[in-house]
Amino acid sequence: SFSEAEVQSARGAWEKIYVDAEDNGTAVLIRMFTEHPDTKSYFTHFKGMDSAEEMKQSDQVRGHGKRVFTAINDMVQHLDNTEAFLGILNPLGQKHATQLKIDPKNFRIICDIILQLMEEKFGGDCKTSFEKVTNEICTHLTNIYK
Ligand code: HEM
Repeated sequence: SFSEAEVQSARGAWEKIYVDAEDNGTAVLIRMFTEHPDTKSYFTHFKGMDSAEEMKQSDQVRGHGKRVFTAINDMVQHLDNTEAFLGILNPLGQKHATQLKIDPKNFRIICDIILQLMEEKFGGDCKTSFEKVTNEICTHLTNIYK
């Protein structure tokens, strides 16, 4: 669980990147798709996935980037309430495990890209403040597969 100070600094860090949720969520997805092209195999129903330039224009990629960031934002609002935090994360994890069949190694990949983007845009303190959140998300998502 998170201390009050951890909750505050994680929220502060997240707010910086969430202000531009669609652009930053899209940037995270594009980096995942280009640096780990196997992740595109889950999105065969998305059109215009051949280059970063195409992806940037894609309503499907943009919509999904926004959706992923909105889900994380909901979790960030409940860092001080484990039950509520897991109430958001567990059903999402179930869907990724059973219906979407996402290889859980990809959760660490997308979380590391979020941290990388935070560091590039807002500096090392921003990244450090959010690391515990991404660790919790990855740990719980991966545990659902066990
Ligand atoms: C769908 C969040 C990681 C692949 C979704 C949805 C959300 C979401 C909110 C929509 C769920 C719904 O419609 O009920 C997240 C979060 C992640 C994460 C918060 C990690 C921090 C991943 C990863 C992959 C992935 C790593 C694959 C590499 C998908 C796919 C869909 C989906 C294929 C369905 C997309 C569609 O058909 O529109 N995710 N996701 N997700 N996610 Fe994730």
